Amino acid sequence: MTVEAEPMPIPEPPPAAPLPPAAAPGTPDEESGVPLPASADLLPGAPPAPRSVLHDVPERALRSLLLTMSRQRWLGRVATGTPITRGMVARFVAGQSLDEVLPAVASVIAAGMHTTVDVLGESVTSAEDADGAVGRYLQTLDALAERYLERNVSLKLSQMGLGLDRELCRENVERVFRRAAEIGAFVRIDMEDASTVDATLATWRGLRPVNASSGVVIQAALRRSARDVEDLIAERGPVRLCKGAYKEAPDVAFTDRADIDQSYAELMDRLLHDGAHTALATHDERLIGRAVKMAKADGIARDRFEFQMLYGIRRDLQERLAAAGYTVRIYVPYGTSWYPYFMRRLAERPANVTFLLRSLFSEGAGSGSGGKD
Ligand code: FDA
Repeated sequence: MTVEAEPMPIPEPPPAAPLPPAAAPGTPDEESGVPLPASADLLPGAPPAPRSVLHDVPERALRSLLLTMSRQRWLGRVATGTPITRGMVARFVAGQSLDEVLPAVASVIAAGMHTTVDVLGESVTSAEDADGAVGRYLQTLDALAERYLERNVSLKLSQMGLGLDRELCRENVERVFRRAAEIGAFVRIDMEDASTVDATLATWRGLRPVNASSGVVIQAALRRSARDVEDLIAERGPVRLCKGAYKEAPDVAFTDRADIDQSYAELMDRLLHDGAHTALATHDERLIGRAVKMAKADGIARDRFEFQMLYGIRRDLQERLAAAGYTVRIYVPYGTSWYPYFMRRLAERPANVTFLLRSLFSEGAGSGSGGKD
């Protein structure tokens, strides 16, 4: 059983280091053999990205529409009741039940990678629903422990009742943290939209003494994240760094992809040099290449960071990094409340909409694998 490790504390974080040069184009890292593309291109030999049938719809508008749709409950009810979408959903969601997700977790581990399990659900509207979510997390933790699978889960505060009552939410998360502490499990609190950041960080800080084996998420898209990262470095908080999956206003978030990527690179550099254990959650090969190169050049030990990717996305890259000796953790979601999670996956890569439409209109709707990643 492995959990995300806490590194040795570093007493005084030094001031921000200048950004090291980006990785050389397409140069394999001599030590790991992992190719390090400097451009947005896929790795050499990879097939070109499929052209979206919606290529004439501006990508940004489509992304925005999909994210708006992700918040429409009635659409979620329709979609989850439609069997035809299941093939596509199965690409990103490891199962509807605990019985289905456990073999998926076991097979990720058998492939030499690590896992964090997410019980899908968010924005609950009643205390009963929040209580149900807590119950499913406790069951999941127990099942992972019973089967000697990795004890590591990720949860969302809106699923624990944040939108209903902050104290109720704190109590619910505490129940999960306590059980996790009893069985030696790591709990990561996912980050939701910008309006929840203060409450999320405060809830984690308040509950950290209950389970020190816990951490939070920082979104590179948010303008405030540089400050949050400095605070988390000072308090030795384990951070998962991601780009950010929510629709945000320009006054709180960078909306241009290049700005988000630049922010990610800067925050990653700070965390890798001075942070506690850092999880780099991205499928972006340029950023992964940059991390590999920087870790090697600056002597950052491999046990101080890990790569994290989503179930069903870039399996080739996941396996290649794991084979090169890097810790790779896969975020494995399961459950029936998959709609908002699924819609965010569509929004991240609008070409996925093409695959969805194809699967809807073809007899083979059950396959829906949509390419290599
Ligand atoms: P980017 O979007 O630039 O994609 C890079 C490449 O990855 C693409 O070119 C494509 O090949 C592939 N790719 C990415 N998304 C894809 C998709 N949906 N389908 C197919 N291919 C895709 N967000 C958040 O707000 N709060 C959170 O707590 C988390 N937690 C989290 C955990 C983990 C383990 C991961 C990997 C991601 C998150 N995220 C998240 C989501 C994150 O913010 C972001 O939306 C996605 O990771 C997509 O961004 P990338 O960094 O992969 O880059």
